[in-house]
Amino acid sequence: MSERSKPFLYVVVCAAGIAGDISKLITAAQVREWGVGVIATPQGLGFIDAQAVEAQTGYPIRSAWRSPGDPRPLPPPDAIAVAPATFNTINKWAAGISDTLALGILCEAYGLGIPTAALPYLNAAQAAHPAYRQSLERLRGMGVLIADYEPHQPKAGGGREKFRWEQAVELLIHKVR
Ligand SMILES: Cc1cc2nc3c(=O)[nH]c(=O)nc-3n(C[C@H](O)[C@H](O)[C@H](O)COP(=O)(O)O)c2cc1C
Repeated sequence: MSERSKPFLYVVVCAAGIAGDISKLITAAQVREWGVGVIATPQGLGFIDAQAVEAQTGYPIRSAWRSPGDPRPLPPPDAIAVAPATFNTINKWAAGISDTLALGILCEAYGLGIPTAALPYLNAAQAAHPAYRQSLERLRGMGVLIADYEPHQPKAGGGREKFRWEQAVELLIHKVR
């Protein structure tokens, strides 16, 4: 852990319908006395209530890179949870593509040794693409903790009630001291 008294969790939010429930993960971390900062992908921003998230965390949501010389809006992370983790972000992360702030943070986290967990949320047609299986294999090989998820039916949404946001905290708790 860094010099602060409590661990700080980054929650990376991607653009999936379920992202509007992100407060559940923030609460699960806060009841463990973790500080939380949210990083949304540019598309993910449209799926969350930014005002509510900022009120709950006490920090601005990050989505774009800061300008050189600007202060860092969030403390450094002790752990990172990607939830919901989309097909798009999982594949780009595994491939080392860093074209959003969220992906930049995730791609660097491996080299920095920051414990990271991902909660995928995608449909069965997306999951059938061979790149997805390869991406998960690669991320697991990097030490990323991947939550179990049975992809939902295409064009149907679903799985919302079964989505276990708190699993991110359960996966990371033993990695954060
Ligand atoms: C209403 C809506 C729901 C979506 N739900 C999902 C989803 O559950 N999982 C997924 O991987 N992509 C989903 N998508 C597609 C992603 O939003 C799209 O791939 C986007 O480019 C992901 O960007 P990001 O990974 O940078 O957040 C959805 C799109 C829309 C418009």
